Amino acid sequence: MRPLVFAHRGGADALPEHTLAAYLRALDEGADGVECDVRLTRDGHLVCVHDRRLNRTSNGTGLVSAKTLAQLEALDFASWHPAAATEDLQVEHTRLLTLDRLLEALRERGRPVRLLIETKHPSRYGADVERRLVEMLRRYGLAEPVAGDPVTVTVMSFAALALRRIRTLAPALPTVYLLEILPPGVGRGRLPFGARIAGPGIGLVRARPNLIGNLRSAGLGAYCWTVNAEEDVDLVLKHGVDGIITDRPRLVLEHLEKV
Ligand code: G3P
Ligand code: CA
Repeated sequence: MRPLVFAHRGGADALPEHTLAAYLRALDEGADGVECDVRLTRDGHLVCVHDRRLNRTSNGTGLVSAKTLAQLEALDFASWHPAAATEDLQVEHTRLLTLDRLLEALRERGRPVRLLIETKHPSRYGADVERRLVEMLRRYGLAEPVAGDPVTVTVMSFAALALRRIRTLAPALPTVYLLEILPPGVGRGRLPFGARIAGPGIGLVRARPNLIGNLRSAGLGAYCWTVNAEEDVDLVLKHGVDGIITDRPRLVLEHLEKV
């Protein structure tokens, strides 16, 4: 069975990251799921934006956390990307994406989809991101996975603190412990606060060729990011990776068909 393929930030290569246009395109192209970073606005809304600042991916400036939802909704999150000039994108699919809107859109599709939600900066926001996230997932009936629900959610973080909060707030929600370096114990299969999946970066996998195998021998899963080149797909496949998080879901899916 091939690994699951997740569109990183909605598939950040072909279309502007974290726009609904990108998420829907990636799923139409056959991605099993999508990866989404979430942050809080000044007035407490969860929005899908990767960077702390608006400057790179919108026509706004300053911190996302210093703006209200209404201020962010007035911005253009697509024109910075080369595809905006060549693709016929619906304007409402290129504005700010809230987590609420993303969940609604995934549910509207009515087809199985896996959503990986990465919470950013647990220390900066206190427990607010995780608390509001779990509240929202509860509203959608997604905080306690139910067999047959087309949308399944997994929460990811580089911070063990965030995983601890999720475990307290919603013990049944699956979590991924993201890794850039190898913390003590992880290589021997010990993940914090009930996480059953590790999420190593591709650089870490290259540096530690036994890591994925060790995790799997310990009964854990491995989702690797951000795997954008065919040779890296081959590498993680060789080690038995469970999930590939990529900016280029189409390329990865086509490559997996061939190997
Ligand atoms: O999927 C994990 C990956 O997204 C972590 O890195 O910086 O793209 O959020 P980043
Ligand atoms: Ca991320």
